[in-house]
Amino acid sequence: MVLSSTIAPQSKVTELTDDTKYDSLNLEQKKKAWPMERHRSAEVSQAILSKIGHDGAPISSCDPSGEFTADSNGMHRHTITDAAWEALKQSIVYFKGQPIGTLAAIDKSQAELNYDQVFMRDFVPSALAFLMKGEPTIVKNFLVETARLQSREKMVDLFKLGQGVMPASFKVHHSHPTKKTETLLADFGEIAIGRVAPVDSGLWWIFLLRAYTKYTRDSSLAESPHCQRAMRLILKLWLSEGFDTSPALLCADGCSMIDRRMGIYGYPLEIQALFFMALRCALSLLKDSNDDFVYQITKRIKALSYHLHSYYWLDFQRLNDIYRYKTEEYSQTALNKFNVIPESIPDWIFDFMPSRGGYFIGNVSPARMDFRWFCLGNFIAILSCLATGEQAEAILDLVEERWEELIGEMPLKICYPAMENQEWQIVTGCDPKNTRWSYHNGGSWPVLLWLLVAVSVKLGRPHIARNAVELMERRLAKDDFPEYYDGKTGRYIGKQSRKFQTWSVAGYLVAKMLLDDPSNLRAVSLEDDGHIREPVLKRSNSCP
Ligand code: GLC
Repeated sequence: MVLSSTIAPQSKVTELTDDTKYDSLNLEQKKKAWPMERHRSAEVSQAILSKIGHDGAPISSCDPSGEFTADSNGMHRHTITDAAWEALKQSIVYFKGQPIGTLAAIDKSQAELNYDQVFMRDFVPSALAFLMKGEPTIVKNFLVETARLQSREKMVDLFKLGQGVMPASFKVHHSHPTKKTETLLADFGEIAIGRVAPVDSGLWWIFLLRAYTKYTRDSSLAESPHCQRAMRLILKLWLSEGFDTSPALLCADGCSMIDRRMGIYGYPLEIQALFFMALRCALSLLKDSNDDFVYQITKRIKALSYHLHSYYWLDFQRLNDIYRYKTEEYSQTALNKFNVIPESIPDWIFDFMPSRGGYFIGNVSPARMDFRWFCLGNFIAILSCLATGEQAEAILDLVEERWEELIGEMPLKICYPAMENQEWQIVTGCDPKNTRWSYHNGGSWPVLLWLLVAVSVKLGRPHIARNAVELMERRLAKDDFPEYYDGKTGRYIGKQSRKFQTWSVAGYLVAKMLLDDPSNLRAVSLEDDGHIREPVLKRSNSCP
């Protein structure tokens, strides 16, 4: 299916205005210029639903009777894939007649939120799907427009955000109904719930620029002055000096995919792994490879790798070491450098930790180790080669050993385990959306499937991927591609889950394309170039 030839732009734009007009508005004016837009939800759902039978089972688009024809697994999969491409196609957003991204969701049952926007992180699986399908234009447009958005002045009340910050999301605003003028309205965190800037956006942007370059074999976009500038601005912000005593990035709660208070403040693994990935991608994309900047990046990659290996890696042996930690050590030679009190180790981890397997824990800071397992950070660690070969295998061993807990009935747990009772009250601030085993608090997110498939294909263990894909195929299309599932095993469609969530759709498609053609891995996976780890890190299984 060649998408560009089958998709018509939402509207023909006859007269265009410059985005810079938007920049000149003050914050109040910007808020007013942000009306809720009605998207074509009704037609969209109809178009996609016509591919799904009334009993919820996918039907073949060429079946004239409209009856359920999934008489073989192959046909069944084929129709799910068709429905997914259709949904992805319907989610495309156009700006000045050009595709520039995909809506977060095309379910408008709760129109008051911002799912009608193009999210940077949500677009990543869409972009990969388009690249793998041979449709790079939308990805290029997205990269160019978001780089433009980055140069805007970003204010939260009277405070100016760093220049390198990339938007969390944006939408097309039709500012003048009769003149048909279009502008992009971006959110850098200044209007988001919780007012947190997305730390992950810029890192995903660099990742995507590399994926685009790798796929198209066209380095002219990455080498263009505005992309080089955007990349340098992102990196300058991330590499700036401060009060840090570690190479990890200090973050506020809610600064990434988990964008509500969930106790991930500090040095969350997801950001550190993405940071590592982005630094490595940037090295391959920066034009001037001799400048001081490149030197700084190289140093940071090594320091970050050392830090994460030394303090985040956990397996049976390490857990036992921490369990026996001495405290109050004041010296260069301290073993328990962060003064973690062994009594703070949660009970669940002793049962959860298999003898075979390991993972990078969620967060490390003074007197605090967050032992929760976070999916995205661990899988990005494998794709970026932050994890050694041995560790990468151990992460997948853990997934196999703890299949019920991490995969259950619907891949894949965003984190494990859920917080309950008083801990949930204190850590989330009694967030009703993040109750136990729901949403970010141990919910199951179909979008994460593509990452599981990518790492299993990378490590030559595709049976893990196939089992997970099969599980998902039983429900995903039938349930209208939900955003997330609830429950200990992910059995129930999430309480406030959107339907036709674009990254659930795109994640499935990318997973399928990675399985069908492992060479697609080149867009998302880096090779270990042998220079990213200091020799001392060979002892990653022992106590630092
Ligand atoms: C929710 C998710 C966030 C995602 C957004 C749009 O806020 O937590 O990760 O980007 O929805 O889908």
